[in-house]
Amino acid sequence: MRCGVVLLVAVLSLGTGAAESLSETANDQIQENFDINQFLGTWFALATGCNCSWFNQYKEVMTITKVVLSTSEESNTFIGTFQYDRNGTCIHHVGRYTKKDIAGHFVFNSTGAYAESADIRVIKINYQEYAFLLIHASKGADHSKSVSLYGRTRNLTKETTEEFKEFALRQGIPEDMILFLPEKGKY
Ligand SMILES: *[C@@H]1O[C@H](CO)[C@@H](O)[C@H](O)[C@H]1NC(C)=O
Ligand SMILES: *[C@@H]1O[C@H](CO)[C@@H](O)[C@H](O)[C@H]1NC(C)=O
Ligand SMILES: *[C@@H]1O[C@H](CO)[C@@H](O)[C@H](O)[C@H]1NC(C)=O
Ligand SMILES: *[C@@H]1O[C@H](CO)[C@@H](O)[C@H](O)[C@H]1NC(C)=O
Repeated sequence: MRCGVVLLVAVLSLGTGAAESLSETANDQIQENFDINQFLGTWFALATGCNCSWFNQYKEVMTITKVVLSTSEESNTFIGTFQYDRNGTCIHHVGRYTKKDIAGHFVFNSTGAYAESADIRVIKINYQEYAFLLIHASKGADHSKSVSLYGRTRNLTKETTEEFKEFALRQGIPEDMILFLPEKGKY
């Protein structure tokens, strides 16, 4: 189920618990006045980019992921459910995000065997249309940086997709590691 993990990391936006200093992303600060309530609901993860060593290997099987974000019983956390098609099989994951001090900054710790954690920042959001996420993920000694484009629908404007691509490049993601995901199955 490596692929599922990979997608979870790449698409959801998992980052590292050991957060990089904010100055490293000085050009891309967390969205001002971020409002978690407006962030909740259904999104589609439409594009992703990562400097991960495994990325090329999984490019072919990655597809659009449906993401549903909802509140949890604990006020400092929220829940994400992820559904996507992987090679004809529907994959379903649930994860929990913990809010950090700055609104728009989260930590994701996966459960079970994955031993994966992620530091996630919402860099830019238009709650009705799109969100740009910056993710630092870690698994053991392995660190990666990824970006993710969420859309409220599967169809964003060209301006938005171009802007996302620029954002990814600015974050040092190589162009051939930026992937606009195909739609497959019902997700
Ligand atoms: C996808 O499914 C095909 C046919 O069942 C199989 O040959 C292939 O190895 C699978 N690929 C992955 C990445 O699971
Ligand atoms: C996530 O896991 C890391 C490593 O085990 C731990 O240091 C951190 O406190 C955890 N964070 C949360 C929010 O559970
Ligand atoms: C990806 O970026 C992260 C964060 O900048 C860095 O720690 C990691 O070494 C990079 N990985 C590769 C394969 O370049
Ligand atoms: C997506 O948007 C483009 C341009 O905004 C439009 O031409 C196209 O018909 C739309 N596709 C769907 C499926 O809505």
